[in-house]
Amino acid sequence: MSDKHVKRVDLIFEKIKCRDVLKKIIDMEPEAICQEVLDSDLKGRGGAGFPTGLKWRFTSKEKDPIKYVVCNADEGEPGTFKDREILDQVPGKVFCGMAIAGRAVGAKMGYVYLRGEYKFLIPKLNEELIKFHRTMDEFNQNFRIQICLGSGAYICGEESALFESIEGKRGEPRNKPPYPTTSGLFGKPTVINNVETLVHTVMIMKYGAAHFKELGTKDSRGSKVFSVSGDTPKAGIFELELGMSVDEFVQEFGDGDTKAVQVGGASGFCVPRKKFDETIIGFEGVPTGGSMKLFNSTRSMYNVLHNYLDFFTEESCGQCTPCRVGCQQLLKGVEAVKRGDKNSKYLDELVKLAKTMKRASKCGLGQSVGNAFGSIVENFKEEIIY
Ligand SMILES: Cc1cc2nc3c(=O)[nH]c(=O)nc-3n(C[C@H](O)[C@H](O)[C@H](O)COP(=O)(O)O)c2cc1C
Ligand code: SF4
Repeated sequence: MSDKHVKRVDLIFEKIKCRDVLKKIIDMEPEAICQEVLDSDLKGRGGAGFPTGLKWRFTSKEKDPIKYVVCNADEGEPGTFKDREILDQVPGKVFCGMAIAGRAVGAKMGYVYLRGEYKFLIPKLNEELIKFHRTMDEFNQNFRIQICLGSGAYICGEESALFESIEGKRGEPRNKPPYPTTSGLFGKPTVINNVETLVHTVMIMKYGAAHFKELGTKDSRGSKVFSVSGDTPKAGIFELELGMSVDEFVQEFGDGDTKAVQVGGASGFCVPRKKFDETIIGFEGVPTGGSMKLFNSTRSMYNVLHNYLDFFTEESCGQCTPCRVGCQQLLKGVEAVKRGDKNSKYLDELVKLAKTMKRASKCGLGQSVGNAFGSIVENFKEEIIY
C-alpha cells in the first residue's frame, strides 16, 4: 500500500479575467498559439487523449477558408458529470478556449454541442455568450459561437456522429479517414475538443506551457477533473494531478471496503483491488475521460457488467454488424452463463468476440465494449458463473 496522497489542483475552476487572455492571444501569431499548446503536451480530456496541439496544427495547415471549432459538451459517458460543472461554474473560460482554438486554426465559427439533459444551462450560457460576443466586437474579432442541443444519444458524443447531428442528420459515425481536421463539420476542417480540454488551453495561454507541465507525468501532463461516484463518502467533482495510482485514489475516496474501481465509465476498465497499487490513472495506465466509479463488497460485478452491456446494446447505433450483433450476443451470453445454461469456458468465447469487436467495429463505441467486458470477466469470473 502506498502512503502517498492525491494532489488537489485548482486550475479549471479558477476564476480568471478571460478578456486578458483573449487580448494576449489576439496579439499572437496563430502558429505560436499552436506551438504553445503543443509544448504543453496537453492530451484531450474527452477520453481518447489525442495531443491537442497536434490537432490544432493539422487543422491550421488546411487551406480551406472556412473552418470550425466544436466544443464537445455531450458528456454521455456513464459516471461523468464534470463538464456540466465546468459549464456551470466557468462558462466564459469554455468560450475563451474556443476563441483561442479559432484564432490558432483560422476558424470564425464555433459550436457548443450540449447534452440534451443540460438544457437547464442554456439561459446562463446565453447570458455569458452575449458578454463573450461583446468582448469579441470590442477586440474587432468576428469569431462567433452557437449552442446546439443534443437529444440524449450516447453515440452523438462520438465526434463524427456529433457533426451529423449538428448538420440535422441522424447521429451516426462516419468512416475515418478523413479525420475532422481535414473534413469535419459540414465537410470543413474542424477542431473538436472536450469542454475541459478547451479550458486547459486557456490556462496554458495564461500561465504558459511550462507551468502546465509542472504537474503530472511524462505521458500524462497536468491535472484532470474527475467525477467520483459509487461507494464513496466523497462523491463529487475533484481536479487532481494526473499520474496517481488507483491505490492512492482509493485511499482518498474509498470507503475502506473498495473491491473495484471502474476507470473511464462503461467504455473504460475495471481495476480490481489486487491491481490498485500497480495501476496508474493516466495515459500510461488506465486513461479516463473523468468517470471514476467505486464498488465495495456489497456490489455484484455481474450486475455491473450486465448494466454496461445493456447500456451498449441500447446505445449502439446499429450501423455495423460487429457492434450491433456483438453487443446483443455478449449480453445474452453472460445471462446464459449466469443462469447455468453455458459453462465458464463460454466466457472465454465471449472474450474472443469482444476482441473481434475491437478490431472490426466502425467507431469507438463498438471498439471499447471489450474494455469493461474483458477486465470484469478476467478479474471477477467467479461472480459471473452460475
Ligand atoms: C461513443 C463515444 C462517445 C463519446 N462521447 C464523448 C463525450 O460525451 N464528450 C467528449 O468530449 N468526447 C466524447 N467522445 C470522444 C470524441 O469522439 C472526441 O474524441 C473528443 O470530443 C475529442 O476531444 P478531446 O481531444 O479534447 O478529448 C466519445 C467517443 C465515442 C466513441
Ligand atoms: S461501432 Fe456501434 S455505434 Fe459505432 S458505428 Fe458501429 S454500430 Fe454504430
